Amino acid sequence: MRSLTILGSTGSIGTQTIDVAKTLAWRVDTLVAGRNAALLVEQAHELKPRLVVCDEAIVDQVRDAVPPSTRVAAGREAVLEAAVHPVDTVVAAIPGMAGVAPVLAAVEAGRHVALATKEAMVVAGDLVWAAARASGATLTPVDSEHAGVAQLLVGEAMASVESIVLTASGGPFREGPEDLSSVTREQALAHPTWAMGPRVTIDSATLFNKGLEVIEAHALFGLPFDAIEVVVHPQSLVHAFVRYRDGSLKAQVGPHDMRLAILWGIEGTNRPELPYPRLPLDGVWQFEPPDLKRFPALALAYDAGRAGGTAPAVLNAADEVAVGAFLAGRLPFPGIAEALRVALERVPSMPASWDAIVETDRRAREETEHWITRQVS
Ligand SMILES: NC(=O)c1ccc[n+]([C@@H]2O[C@H](COP(=O)([O-])OP(=O)(O)OC[C@H]3O[C@@H](n4cnc5c(N)ncnc54)[C@H](OP(=O)(O)O)[C@@H]3O)[C@@H](O)[C@H]2O)c1
Repeated sequence: MRSLTILGSTGSIGTQTIDVAKTLAWRVDTLVAGRNAALLVEQAHELKPRLVVCDEAIVDQVRDAVPPSTRVAAGREAVLEAAVHPVDTVVAAIPGMAGVAPVLAAVEAGRHVALATKEAMVVAGDLVWAAARASGATLTPVDSEHAGVAQLLVGEAMASVESIVLTASGGPFREGPEDLSSVTREQALAHPTWAMGPRVTIDSATLFNKGLEVIEAHALFGLPFDAIEVVVHPQSLVHAFVRYRDGSLKAQVGPHDMRLAILWGIEGTNRPELPYPRLPLDGVWQFEPPDLKRFPALALAYDAGRAGGTAPAVLNAADEVAVGAFLAGRLPFPGIAEALRVALERVPSMPASWDAIVETDRRAREETEHWITRQVS
């Protein structure tokens, strides 16, 4: 029986991981969440974990309500403690910069990490690999496109790979309106194919999510940016392609169900039997190039990725702030990409040590917040 720690258990990836764990009768050792006390307590009663970690703001409420066999802890140190505890797999699904240090801690401790928190590879890919080399930790992607690429690479030599292609749904504004300045929060949150947390959903609408995934793919697979393509595929059924140097092309295909990518992240090629719906092979599958004029955040991510150092951390921090401002009604939709451009111009990039990443993250948040405040006033 497998044992799991789930970082971000009350979120979209976390709850789907629990669904898979219940289907396959895995043991959930530790649950880590933020402030959703009601769901965390419900999960604790259902799974009887050894440890539950939450935000300080809800710790008393959670401690009073979980089963007596479950220990409850709160705060940053407790999250890191949870990340390093020996289990078969740590599922990393805390979004944003908040999720990066727990991934690094798990990797430093030699764990197997099923990685949904793409930001870890985006802002600290080199540090993650250096830690993995030192500790023997292993890392499997959960992002569906990267899980797709990883599956396509099984049995293939990297030297025969010409390029990889990540698919993008195109988000809710693929077909319009042409002018995105008055689209609403509700429209942007209505993703056509995937049900995800709020930040990644807005990032899918701006195509910045695909930009993060391009940088993530560069860090995971060691390919140059020219060898990482993006194609818009509104049906989200082909998750990735790999082009080989002989001109052959393989696709990884499946229903848009993150539980399959989560399962890959945990089990790899073991492929246990699952009763989920099979994909019917019918209908029209479309592919088209991304519109970089309407969605400039994708091009900015390529720029930051090529610049390297802490430039991706600048974009990630600026995006977290700008998406928050858009969701709060303080910034129009096109302002998100504009905030990224401004942050990239104003915050200098430096070699990506952990201290430099943390300092860059702080500066980029500050610059972006100032810029947004000036736009509003
Ligand atoms: N959702 C998807 O289909 C999908 C697909 C591919 C990749 N990803 C990636 O997976 C990651 C998670 O995405 P998601 O959609 O699952 O996010 P989500 O639905 O917003 O869930 C986030 C989870 O992390 C917890 N959390 C947030 N900040 C925390 C902190 N500081 N300390 C501890 N826990 C914290 C939340 O707790 P509370 O809710 O209790 O506050 C929640 O459990 C992101 O990096 C995303 O890009 C997601």
